[in-house]
Amino acid sequence: MKLSWLSAVLLGAATTANAIDTIKAVGSKFFYSNGTQFFIKGVAYQLTEHDPLVDAAQCKRDAALMSTLGANAIRVYHVDAKQDHSSCMSEFENAGIYPLIDLDTFDTYILPNDPWWNQTQYDRYAAVMDAFAHYNNTLGFFVGNEIIAIANQSMAAPFIKSAARDMKAYRDSKGYRQIPIGYSAADIAELRPMLQDYLTCGGNASENVDFFALNSYEWCDPSTYATSGYANLQKDADNFPVPIFFSETGCNQPGPRLFDDQAAIFGPEMVNDWSGSIIYEWIEEANHYGLISYGPSVAATATGSNVVGGFTRAGTPMPVSPDFNNLKTAWAKASPTGVASSKYNPSSVSTRTCPSSTSGGWLVNGNVALPTLGETYSGTYTTAPSATGTGTAGSAATTTSTKNPAPANKEIAGMSAGLVGVMLFFTFWL
Ligand SMILES: *[C@@H]1O[C@H](CO)[C@@H](O)[C@H](O)[C@H]1NC(C)=O
Ligand SMILES: *[C@@H]1O[C@H](CO)[C@@H](O)[C@H](O)[C@H]1NC(C)=O
Ligand SMILES: *[C@@H]1O[C@H](CO)[C@@H](O)[C@H](O)[C@H]1NC(C)=O
Ligand SMILES: *[C@@H]1O[C@H](CO)[C@@H](O)[C@H](O)[C@H]1NC(C)=O
Ligand SMILES: *[C@@H]1O[C@H](CO)[C@@H](O)[C@H](O)[C@H]1NC(C)=O
Repeated sequence: MKLSWLSAVLLGAATTANAIDTIKAVGSKFFYSNGTQFFIKGVAYQLTEHDPLVDAAQCKRDAALMSTLGANAIRVYHVDAKQDHSSCMSEFENAGIYPLIDLDTFDTYILPNDPWWNQTQYDRYAAVMDAFAHYNNTLGFFVGNEIIAIANQSMAAPFIKSAARDMKAYRDSKGYRQIPIGYSAADIAELRPMLQDYLTCGGNASENVDFFALNSYEWCDPSTYATSGYANLQKDADNFPVPIFFSETGCNQPGPRLFDDQAAIFGPEMVNDWSGSIIYEWIEEANHYGLISYGPSVAATATGSNVVGGFTRAGTPMPVSPDFNNLKTAWAKASPTGVASSKYNPSSVSTRTCPSSTSGGWLVNGNVALPTLGETYSGTYTTAPSATGTGTAGSAATTTSTKNPAPANKEIAGMSAGLVGVMLFFTFWL
């Protein structure tokens, strides 16, 4: 039945007022609440060390250009729970962009060599969750970023699980929606397979991460799926129990960046197991990973209201050439449809075995008892009684990684909610 012009317009207006679809994790995939699979096309967004989600005018300018780029997500590393984020969150919501927020910050990190997890951290993480949980476009939370970089830091891994356990329980106790809570790992070939298995092993979902994310700079253009190292990442991600994605990627050596890895991530080699990627990073600064700049670089010693470390950090974003357009082109070509949630069987995913320790390698032996809130690492762990027990990791590290120094699909997502309404209007009219 053809709708009248008036009712179609009213329908469009009603759609415009509707909130953005929330995202949830089911099995190894993210889904919009309408059942379409969600793939992350994100950028790391941290303009200074301070919270970037408090300046509405800046968020609006950046969200608009991110839309042009084709982004549907951002990652923010440091936020201030005491600030008001509502204007920025709605600017990003209007642009169809979903923020991933790190719950930890400079003075609350779980430390690698001397880990503890206590009430001070818990309260600060919880405050960040409280500040972001009620926004429908909050995509997820990280309980840590690159805590483990060398073998003897693997002993910190149970503290990551404790933080995930407690933050998930906190989320549920507050009645928040099931916002996914996960971890962002450094890409250390000798530890990654064990870490990603460990964070999802043991058979108790309440103690496991809801997603695993990897900061990986293995693919430096020009490269290929086979030679970049991604084939190994894929082998370890096969049928992974929870969503897995790149929480940082975009090697810039030697440059220019072609972002050819996006075709692998969103193409037949990886798209069944990976949920997308976040490109490091939005702002151009000394490391030259920027997709945009807010003006020419200035003297490193220059001072000014928006100048830090030789770069202007607010204003009108301008694409860095050719990287911005190269990414835009790469993302425009990548349009995976994935699977509808109604056709997806989450119990088809694998279960992971808690890896056994090896001398000089992964040091956590099996499914150890997780630290309780308030515990500091004592030098040993006791083995937890567990049905799934211990065993060798399903996949062992076979290659060395190239960790370079560095510090989805939703076509409509890039448009404003208003445009979605307009599109519905045309759909019904035709
Ligand atoms: C948590 O540990 C830190 C570092 O030792 C300490 O400063 C803080 O007081 C501890 N918090 C609580 C509640 O014990
Ligand atoms: C989130 O979505 C719900 C249902 O669509 C809506 O009622 C609510 O107002 C939205 N919340 C915000 C903060 O926009
Ligand atoms: C951890 O390993 C690093 C590098 O191998 C070494 O320098 C450091 O002393 C070790 N720390 C401990 C506590 O063994
Ligand atoms: C799973 O973990 C949660 C949180 O640690 C705990 O409360 C619960 O008892 C565990 N369930 C089982 C079956 O062990
Ligand atoms: C679900 O919502 C997303 C984002 O708005 C949209 O791209 C997709 O087409 C929708 N799927 C269905 C089945 O309506």
